[in-house]
Amino acid sequence: MSSPPARPTSTPPGQVPLGQRAGGPLGRLPKGEVRQVIAVGSGKGGVGKSSVTVMMAAELRRQGHEVGILDADVTGPSVPHLLGLGGHLVDRGQGIEPAVTPQGLRNVSSQYLLEEGSTPVIWRGPLVTRLITQFFAGVHWGALDYLLIDMPPGTSDVPLTVFQAIPIDGMVFVTTPQELAGLIVRKAINMARELHVPLLGLVENMKEVRCPHCRTSFSPYGESHARALAEEYDIPYLGGLPIDPRISETGDRGGLANYEDPALTEVVRAMVLSLREAQARTLNVL
Ligand SMILES: Nc1ncnc2c1ncn2[C@@H]1O[C@H](COP(=O)(O)OP(=O)(O)OP(=O)(O)O)[C@@H](O)[C@H]1O
Ligand SMILES: [Mg+2]
Repeated sequence: MSSPPARPTSTPPGQVPLGQRAGGPLGRLPKGEVRQVIAVGSGKGGVGKSSVTVMMAAELRRQGHEVGILDADVTGPSVPHLLGLGGHLVDRGQGIEPAVTPQGLRNVSSQYLLEEGSTPVIWRGPLVTRLITQFFAGVHWGALDYLLIDMPPGTSDVPLTVFQAIPIDGMVFVTTPQELAGLIVRKAINMARELHVPLLGLVENMKEVRCPHCRTSFSPYGESHARALAEEYDIPYLGGLPIDPRISETGDRGGLANYEDPALTEVVRAMVLSLREAQARTLNVL
């Protein structure tokens, strides 16, 4: 088990030193009309990161916020499918116009660049960097309260590009109980920390199964280690989402933005609180 890197002593937990703050330093793109940029990442693939990104975005939208989703998973884009969006993007002179769902969620993804949905995306490294930069700075996002970024999994150069180019206000990690014992999630958390991206917390996806008849729930993977991991890294545990067939079914049909659940509401509430607290700590340091 690798231990978290030591933090500078003058910096509160989950925060980064002044001058190194995501969104601050030279080299990262200006935020424009986007107020909060939140990256959603994971260690392993397939833990439900894209689904959680879409569900959190939809929950924020239901609360009345202007919300966009930047699909930074360039080689495995899935956000348009989960939102039921397709076709191509156009530029009407103010930058690329995002695709928009009936709920008003805006989205940009490499999926819209493909001639056919099933075409594999083979991007060389420099192109990926340019594409991600374009998706942030070359898109007419308009005024957004939140831009959520569906990160590619792991610690490769694509997440590195996102961290280095985009002014991220905070990062949420999605994990599953099976993933928690492994080292991969630790590597991903350490990478974000070393790049001075404020860590907003952990979301434990597929935490439990709820019985549709008796309202009890059980954990198919045994006791959860998510809280212990969050404590170990001194980051908030934002809550758990159940294994719910409605998530996979509505996702497959392109209607995931309609998924509602009290556990999702709680996760988003905790995430917004964590973001506020992280920003208040930065102001205090100022
Ligand atoms: N809480 C859940 N309950 C039931 N099914 C889920 C849940 N979360 C995700 N899934 C399903 O698990 C599969 C993987 O989810 P998703 O594509 O969101 O993961 P991902 O981490 O983004 O994967 P990738 O690394 O390939 O991008 C999908 O079929 C999705 O519908
Ligand atoms: Mg995904």
